Amino acid sequence: MRYSKIVGLGHHVPETVITNEYLSGIMDTNDEWITERTGIKERRYVDPVKDTVANMAAKATRMALERANLTEKDIDFIVFATITPDYFFPGSGVLLQRELGLESIGALDIRNACSGFIYALSVADQFIKSGMYKTILVVGAEIQSTAIDMTTRGRNTAVIFADGAGAVILQPTDQPGILSTHLHADGRYAEELYVRDPGSSRPREERQPEQILDTTTFKVVMNGSQVFKHAVVRFMEVINEALAANGMKKEDIDLLIPHQANLRISQFVQHKLELPDSKVYNNIMRYGNTTAASIPIALSEAWAEGKVKEDNLICLAAFGSGFTWASALIRW
Ligand code: UT7
Repeated sequence: MRYSKIVGLGHHVPETVITNEYLSGIMDTNDEWITERTGIKERRYVDPVKDTVANMAAKATRMALERANLTEKDIDFIVFATITPDYFFPGSGVLLQRELGLESIGALDIRNACSGFIYALSVADQFIKSGMYKTILVVGAEIQSTAIDMTTRGRNTAVIFADGAGAVILQPTDQPGILSTHLHADGRYAEELYVRDPGSSRPREERQPEQILDTTTFKVVMNGSQVFKHAVVRFMEVINEALAANGMKKEDIDLLIPHQANLRISQFVQHKLELPDSKVYNNIMRYGNTTAASIPIALSEAWAEGKVKEDNLICLAAFGSGFTWASALIRW
């Protein structure tokens, strides 16, 4: 039986640290509210002159390649999860291919928001299992700071969302690696967390930018409490689905890496699964919610801290815009 295995992991976060105090100076919010409701203390924002989604992804990729003892030339396919591509089109996968100096390998973008990395991992896993590719780069990267409403009107999103990139390299193995992935969506809730423009579903005269007078439609809109309520239910469902599919129990999990949506969501899931602190990895306190980048950044940091060991059972789980939700169980 052919499985895929993560052979290298890397991440990159921008240098600029944005504290809760800084945000409190430009909108009506405060450290106490943000800490209590989200657990976030600081996050990173790009320097728009220097950083792009593709070049942050390239930095994360180089770290992953180095840790895997591989080079750019070994990569034969790219799967790139992002909802904040550098251009409206083409996607960021081709820009990453260019950044890495690779000439003609295929590159695919995945736009499934916070679940994007697990969707991307699942797609890559199928390509490896089928024998179509041998070394696949899977990336999650986002620049969200430039699409956020940085006024009091947008404070429920401004305090949460941030920038960063994470990457993993997948290769085939005949030992269990990625055991299973589980992907879900419910489009009835698409507008509960979305950015409307530049969307194509407008009459021609309205789609011209100079006609879009209400530019808030280019910013992130989120019904936070609705997202929260669905997230806690779907996280549990999709983790339990992964465990059941593999005949395992919650006690078998060595490390849970939840998408870093909100520390209170991660803590709810931890409590329901009765996992000790040592079995749940969170870094949202330092990076905020980096959407598709959050799981690969957390996985890369957890691995570097020695918390992801050989033979461990690692569970990844996510929920976000769409709504979409997903999980993966990995024998490391
Ligand atoms: O990545 C996956 C997708 N995203 C998520 O999973 C996020 C899920 N949702 C959340 O994390 C939470 O809903 C938030 C942290 C975004 C908001 O927390 P909440 O407890 O659900 O607050 P709320 O939106 O129900 O708002 C409660 C109050 C409101 O004031 P009033 O109307 O009660 O006077 C908000 O205006 O808190 C106010 N508020 C704030 N106050 C200070 C909202 N954001 C802020 C803020 N600072 N940043």
